[in-house]
Formats: sequence, C-alpha cells, structure tokens
Amino acid sequence: MYIPDYTEEPFEWYKKMRNESPVARSGNTIHVFRYKDITSVLSNYRIFSSQFRDLLGGEMAEMMNQKTTPSILILDPPVHTTLRNLVSDAFTPATIESYRERVRKIASRLIKNMKNNEWQDAVTGLSYLLPITVISEMLGVPQSDSDLFRDWSDKLATSLGRGPDIETQFEMADYFYGKIDREGKKNNLISRLSRVEIDGRKLTDREIAGFAILLLVAGNETTTNLITNALLSVYESRGVYSEMVDNPDIIPSVVEETLRYRSPVQSTRRYAKVDTELNGIEILKDDILCLYIGSANRDESIFPDGEIFNPHREAKRHIAFGQGIHFCLGAPLARMEAQIALEEFSREIISYDVKIPSPRDRLDSDIMYGFRKMLIKPEFRNM
Ligand code: HEM
Repeated sequence: MYIPDYTEEPFEWYKKMRNESPVARSGNTIHVFRYKDITSVLSNYRIFSSQFRDLLGGEMAEMMNQKTTPSILILDPPVHTTLRNLVSDAFTPATIESYRERVRKIASRLIKNMKNNEWQDAVTGLSYLLPITVISEMLGVPQSDSDLFRDWSDKLATSLGRGPDIETQFEMADYFYGKIDREGKKNNLISRLSRVEIDGRKLTDREIAGFAILLLVAGNETTTNLITNALLSVYESRGVYSEMVDNPDIIPSVVEETLRYRSPVQSTRRYAKVDTELNGIEILKDDILCLYIGSANRDESIFPDGEIFNPHREAKRHIAFGQGIHFCLGAPLARMEAQIALEEFSREIISYDVKIPSPRDRLDSDIMYGFRKMLIKPEFRNM
C-alpha cells in the first residue's frame, strides 16, 4: 500500500482513503481513516491495547524495565488507571493554571528577543523555546542543565515511532533519580510526584523517572508544532490575523482550529488483543492499528468543509489530544502555552509574512506534523 512520507502533504491521501478504503490492511497493519472508526477503537481499550511492551517482548522490554517502568501512554488498565490517578494528582488543571503568569513572562521575553523586522526563524525564536523552557521550570531543572535537557528532548523526539532510544532514556532516568525528593517541600513537579499518595500507594523511583521522560516525549515537540502550525495556518487565511490583533478573544478558537486542521500528532497506534472486525474488515489478534487522527479531524461527516481553516467553526470535537482513557494529560498546558504565545505575538506584532515552508522542511516523522524551521518577517508595533 502506498503511504506518503514526511516530504509530502498527507491530507489528499487521507481524503482518498476515507472515501475509498477507510479501513485498509497492509501486512499486519490496519490503517484507519474515518472519525467514527478511530474514536470507536480509542474508546475500546479492552479489545485495542496500548501495552506495546508486551508486543516488543523479551529482552528489549526487560532491559527498559531496569530503569523506568512503562509510561502510562503504553499501559492498559488496571495499572494505567492507578498510575494516571497518581500523576494526575500532581498535574492538576490548578497546578497548570498556577504557571500562567510565568508562561506569559517567558513568551513575552522570547518575542522581545525577536524584535527586528527582518526574516527570522519562528521555530528557534519562539515555538521551540517556549515549551522546553516551561517544562524545564516545572520539573525543577536548573538553568545550568537546560542545554543537556534540550539535547535529550531532541533525541527523544527524533526516536518517536522508530523504537525507543534506550541510551538517552537511561541517562535521563539517572538524572531524575537524583532529583527525587520524598520528604522535601519543594514545589516543582518532581517533588510533587515524589510525595503524592493515593490509598497508601506512592510512585516508585522508576515510575517518577518514566513519567518525567514521558512529559518530554509527549509534551515538547507537540506544543512546538502547535505554535508553528498556528502561525502558518493563520497566515494562509486572509483576515484572520488582523481579527486576532483587534480581538484577542478569538485566539482560543484559533488554537482549537489549528489542532484540528494541522494536528501536531497525526497518528497513534493500538494492537488487537483478540480477533475482531472494524467497519466490516476482519482484524486478527496482534494486528497493529494505525489510527490517523489528522484524517479524523478533517472527516467531512463531522467537519463540513474540513479542508478549510476556519476559526469560526465549532472545532471542539477534534481528537487532536486523543480520546478515552489516554486523553492527553497535558492538554490544558499545551492550550495555555499556545494561547499565550499567540496573545503576546499579536500584541507586539501588527502583521507578518511567512516564507511558506515546503513539506520537505517538515520534521522527519511518521507521527508528528510540524516544521524544522519556518521563516517569518514580523512588523513590530513599536520599533
Ligand atoms: C499540542 C500539544 C499536544 C498534543 C497534540 C498532544 C497529543 C496527545 C495525544 C494524541 C495523546 C493520546 C495518545 C494515545 O491515545 O495513543 C496524548 C497523551 C498524553 N499527553 Fe499529550 N499532547 C500535547 C501536549 C502535551 C503536553 C504539553 C504534555 C505534558 C507536559 C502531554 C502529556 C501527555 C501524557 C502524559 C499523555 C498520556 C496520557 C495517558 O496515556 O493516559 N501532552 N497527547
């Protein structure tokens, strides 16, 4: 089966597949394109498992288990439920909200650093630096370790979907073991995770390290891409930017529409625990299902004129953050960061040009949709 790689836009292909072959087998992988089928798989964890270490099997799984436990992203209930409850306790919407002013300060500083009306890269200037700076501060990583931290985050992002980068994960696990703070009163996320307790159950050292690593894998590149994709989508849509400058209240809808239209995570996977069927197609035990979130979010039966970026639509039903028991734990943080980035950007910058990146500038990833760099030419309000 033909599958486009990162040098091509996937959206035409998705449309064709939604119409002609919405559930398609290729070897032992089943590709799924329609909203209804994808949400039904995501909602049915009893049949469609996330627990991929079971499939990896033997040596690899054992080796990884030495220093980290599997992250909640790749666990099924009941262990998923227990762990998710514990980490959620340290990662509440109120905790996220308490970072709002700090996020604004960081975004505002980054945009001030961009202050010249020349062509410059929005990824290195803003979209990349905001999430990594925020999560480093949340985890309590000192400024002096920030380069190390960025290096790890980049390595993990590159390894996504290509099998685990065990060496980096081990280095990081050792680093986070040193930060565990069972008795202390520090307010950073690692300290909070060290202290949370539900029904007498605390997180183990390996679970804390595994979760810290997951935050980097799941949270940085995705939020970077959301910000870049928003700047690009707004630029391509006549009138939307001036509307944002005049009326910042529209910004949350711009963020939701970007999540739908250029979903930072284009696909996720499950495997079948038993023989079953989906939309009339036979599925065998251990088949892998590749679920195209980016296609579901353009499904015309849910989003009329789905190929058009329109922040005035009701986009909330998008599944850019997944659905069901694995719904993104960082969604409130990602939304807040992207909204603040756009608020600060549109406060300082009256208009901007973009050199539209070619698909070749996209990240070399089967899963993520974003660009390695994107040149913009801002016109600052006060120069
Ligand atoms: C625009 C940014 C983001 C997008 C598009 C995104 C997308 C997703 C998706 C699609 C899933 C579910 C995957 C599945 O079911 O297989 C997920 C899970 C998760 N995300 Fe995000 N994410 C984003 C930002 C973040 C941030 C900032 C964090 C934390 C700092 C985060 C932490 C997590 C965690 C911990 C999970 C696993 C939840 C579970 O398995 O129960 N994400 N995310």
